[in-house]
Amino acid sequence: MKKIVLYAAAIALAFSSAAYSEETTYRKHIKPLFDAKCVSCHGENAAHEYRAFKEDKAKWVSKGQGMRMDTYSHLVFYTAWLDTGALMRRLDDGKGTGKQGNMYQYLGSTEDERQQNLKLFKDWVGNWTLKKWKDITKEEMDGIKVKY
Ligand code: HEC
Repeated sequence: MKKIVLYAAAIALAFSSAAYSEETTYRKHIKPLFDAKCVSCHGENAAHEYRAFKEDKAKWVSKGQGMRMDTYSHLVFYTAWLDTGALMRRLDDGKGTGKQGNMYQYLGSTEDERQQNLKLFKDWVGNWTLKKWKDITKEEMDGIKVKY
């Protein structure tokens, strides 16, 4: 009996440490979150490319639409390059800088939910830098993981 309890404890431990070290990936964590919270303004009806949005910003904003980010390739564009740090600046809670990003509000309907979802995005990105292309270093760039 004692042995069985011990085995059970060992198995439980193995599972919990596996869960703890689980990687945050686009397919598993970010896509579902994005589809729940962001896709209404950043999906098929949005400007298909960032440059297209910029060329006709007033039109898109008047429709309540931004730029498309509902695929892995599109979303990564707003983390590392070309639009370096954009996702991080917009989603940041402002606790370190005093400047909250204007997309933070969409992460959830309560502060708890927003913090939880921000943590997922942070785990996914890896290096949560707010820097733009002209300021970022190669090492900081290297820290941006964004696993598929
Ligand atoms: C109600 C509509 C709406 C929702 C929901 C929304 N956004 Fe946005 N978002 C916009 C619009 C419109 C813009 C463009 C205007 C601006 O720059 O603020 C934008 C801009 C952005 C940008 C800036 C891109 C750039 O560099 O110009 C990012 C990044 C972003 N959103 C991410 C998100 C994420 C991630 C979510 C989900 C947590 C989200 N947004 C939810 C409407 C929305």
